Amino acid sequence: MNLVVLTGAGISAESGISTFRAADGLWENHRIEDVASPEGFMRDPALVHHFYNLRRAQLHEVVPNKAHQALAALERAWRGRGAFLLVTQNVDDLHERAGSRALRHMHGELRRLLCTACGETGPWHDDAGVDTPCPDCGAEAMRPDIVWFGEIPHHMDEIMEALGQADLFCAIGTSGVVYPAAGFAAQARRNGRNCVLYEINPTPTGGRYFDHVIAAPASEGVPELLCRLGVGADS
Ligand code: OAD
Repeated sequence: MNLVVLTGAGISAESGISTFRAADGLWENHRIEDVASPEGFMRDPALVHHFYNLRRAQLHEVVPNKAHQALAALERAWRGRGAFLLVTQNVDDLHERAGSRALRHMHGELRRLLCTACGETGPWHDDAGVDTPCPDCGAEAMRPDIVWFGEIPHHMDEIMEALGQADLFCAIGTSGVVYPAAGFAAQARRNGRNCVLYEINPTPTGGRYFDHVIAAPASEGVPELLCRLGVGADS
């Protein structure tokens, strides 16, 4: 039984990190296109660095919640049952801090920077700015290692391969409006393995591919998923 889990901002909401599509259409008081697009960065790199510095600093104040922990337990319990892959659209580090290992950050990571001069990426835990030198080439050309609108998400070959082999797929806390992640459920459905699809969301998206919908916050919904899969949360 091969399992692929996709998470979105909703899984970190109960840890105190804002989701993207709040009712006012803003992300932490900014228009998404100003802080999450290459054009926004070209227009005002200092503002964009400042925005992500705040998000990066917030990681010191938040901790993984029951949903992150339950997914790490699910991964441990799944050893010997089949392949397991956790794909997250989130740029926070709460999955890894909860103990998840087979994890791919398809939209990048707050705690990494990318050099636009030499293309190297590396871990970064402090503030960054327009004059931060690249640790590899020295150029003052660093940007957050975040996949912005119009850019290609990371790990797509590996993710598509896993979806092609999946027997179970679960989408947790994602609005399902941003592609390519929004197409993963359809991709799993079409893989010819009779893949069973779950959604966990307190406001279900109504996605037509899901066989089972657990309409609950992730901190309750993920432990419920483990029960349904016959896995103990203390694994
Ligand atoms: P969204 O903000 O679009 O959606 C968050 C989802 O989480 C919604 O469907 C909520 O109903 C749900 N939700 C809220 N509280 C929850 C809880 N306690 N438990 C479970 N679910 C809850 O976030 P994403 O779908 O992750 O991309 O957004 C996808 C991408 O759009 C992001 O990765 C980001 C953004 O622009 C980039 O930055 C490239």
